Amino acid sequence: MKKIVALILATMMMASAAVGCSSNTATSSAAAAPAASEAAPASAAASEAASSAAADAVAASDVSVGVCIYKFDDTFMTGVRNNMTAQAKTLGSTLDIVDSQNKQPTQNEQVDTFITKGVNALAINPVDSTAAAPLVEKAKAKSLPIVFFNRQPTDDIMKGYDKAWYVGAKAEESGTMSGQLIADYFKANKGADKNGDGKIQYVMLQGEPGHQDAVLRTKWSVDAIEKAGFKTEKLAADTAMWDKVKATDLMKTFIASKGIDKIEAVLANNDDMALGAIEALKAAGYNKGDKTKYIPVVGVDATSPALAAMADGSMLGTVLNDGENQGKATVNIAVAAAQGKEINKANVGYDVTDGKYVWIPYVQVTQENYKQFQK
Ligand code: GAL
Ligand code: CA
Repeated sequence: MKKIVALILATMMMASAAVGCSSNTATSSAAAAPAASEAAPASAAASEAASSAAADAVAASDVSVGVCIYKFDDTFMTGVRNNMTAQAKTLGSTLDIVDSQNKQPTQNEQVDTFITKGVNALAINPVDSTAAAPLVEKAKAKSLPIVFFNRQPTDDIMKGYDKAWYVGAKAEESGTMSGQLIADYFKANKGADKNGDGKIQYVMLQGEPGHQDAVLRTKWSVDAIEKAGFKTEKLAADTAMWDKVKATDLMKTFIASKGIDKIEAVLANNDDMALGAIEALKAAGYNKGDKTKYIPVVGVDATSPALAAMADGSMLGTVLNDGENQGKATVNIAVAAAQGKEINKANVGYDVTDGKYVWIPYVQVTQENYKQFQK
C-alpha cells in the first residue's frame, strides 16, 4: 500500500514537474496560442504525456496570423503578400491580411482589432517604421510574437522585445548592384559619356523619404559607380514615392529642366519608378529602339513589367528583391513563434542573425541572366 502511495505521489510529482516546465513553453505562447493553455490542465492528469503534448501543443493549422501591409497598391508588396498567402496555405495556417492604406493610425487600429480577435502572431509591414514602438508595446502586453518586414524599425525598438523579429534585405547591397549595372554599361559603351567630360551625369528617382531602401540605394548606387572608377555628377534627384505615375511626371520635369541630351543615366530606387521614367523617355522619343536615342535606366525589384522592359530593350537592368523568400520567411517565423518554437534555421528555414533578423540576399539582374527571373 505504502509503495502504491509512493508511486502515485512520484507520478504526481513527475506530472507536476512536467507541467511546471511545460508551462514555460506554454506561457511563452499562451497568449499566442489558446490551444497550448487548454492542453496544460489536461496534461496534468495524463502524466508523462504532458511534456511532449505541451511541447508541440500548437499545430500550425491552429495558428492564425494578423498581417498588415503598408498599402496594397504597391507592386512589390503585392508580390510579397501573394507569397505570404501561398506559404500560409502550405503550412495550413490562417492569415488575415489587411490594407493599412498608407496611414499609420489606421494600421495601429488594425493591430488592436487583430489582438481583440485573438490572433496568435502579428506580421507587420509598417507604414512608418519609426512609429513601430507602440506596435511592439501592444504585442508585448499580450506576449504576442511580432514579425516586421520590408520596413525596418530601429534597433532600439527591435531590442525592446524578445519576440520581435525583422525580415528584409540589405538595402546597400541593392544600391551597389544597381550602380554596378550603370558602371558596366559605361565600361562597355564609351559613347555613353555623351559630352565626353569623363563624368556620368545622372538623375535619381528616389523612394519614400526616410525609407531605408530609398536612403541606402541612393547612396550606395552612386558609391558603386565611383568605386568602379567613374566620376559622377548629379543633375537632379527627388522622390517619386515608389510610384510609376509620379515617376513619369518627375522625369518629365527633369527632362524639361536639364535637357534630355544632358542626361546620361537614370537611377531609380525601384522598378515602378524606373518604368515611369522610361515612359517619360519614350514620350521624348528615347529608349524605343534607336541606339542613338538611348539612356540607360536601372531599378530594383525585378517585377515582371521590369523584366519585360529588359526584354524589349527599354530598361538596362534591375536587382531581384526576393519577395518570395521574404514572404515565406515572415510567415514561417510568425507561425513558428506562435507555436512557441525557437526562431532558428532549423525551425524557420532561414539563417537568423542576432536571434532577430533574417536577411534575404539581392541578386543582380542583367541582360545575360534576366530570363531566369521571368515567371
Ligand atoms: C521596397 C521596394 C519598393 C517598395 C517598398 C515598399 O523594398 O523596392 O518597390 O515596394 O519596398 O516599402
Ligand atoms: Ca558625361
